[in-house]
Amino acid sequence: MTAGIGKFVAALLFGMTLTASSLAAEPVTPKLTDKLSSLLQKEMRSVQAAMTAIHSAMVMGQHEKVAENAQQIHDSFILAQSLTKQDRQDLMAAVPEDFVKLDQEFHQLSASLAEAGRNENTGQQHKLFGEMTRNCIQCHSTYVSDRFPGVQSISD
Ligand code: HEC
Repeated sequence: MTAGIGKFVAALLFGMTLTASSLAAEPVTPKLTDKLSSLLQKEMRSVQAAMTAIHSAMVMGQHEKVAENAQQIHDSFILAQSLTKQDRQDLMAAVPEDFVKLDQEFHQLSASLAEAGRNENTGQQHKLFGEMTRNCIQCHSTYVSDRFPGVQSISD
């Protein structure tokens, strides 16, 4: 009887541990090599600057500037840069598949935003800008929680 309850409690605890670990993904930052970390930080700072420029250009109807900056974000795609084979292996070892998926999604969105800039479509630019911002928050709240503990995950 006691053994039965013990097993039940153990199973319950095990289940709770699984749930907790699948909800809170571990930060990737401690797993990055120094080189990857500095490459990523550099990329992030230029993404940040480009997003700010896009926001201003968008609200002033400077479509060409929206397109240029969005294209620049797209072209700086860290996974597409000329990383050495070793860097690439280090990156894949450090980040889970979902992180790569988020990064890919983000860069697809930047390509669409560049397109919306070229098409002079303000409504579409606004929508895509919002989706990209959601993407920043999603990645930071899930994988950079050690550096950005204040960012909460947002639901759809
Ligand atoms: C796929 C994941 C991912 C996405 C999407 C993402 N980031 Fe980041 N970001 C990171 C990681 C990881 C770091 C921490 C890098 C480190 O410290 O090694 C970071 C750090 C940063 C930093 C700090 C850079 C520094 O100097 O240390 C800024 C600013 C930033 N991100 C802005 C953005 C903005 C703006 C967006 C969206 C437009 C965005 N990020 C989208 C993963 C992401």
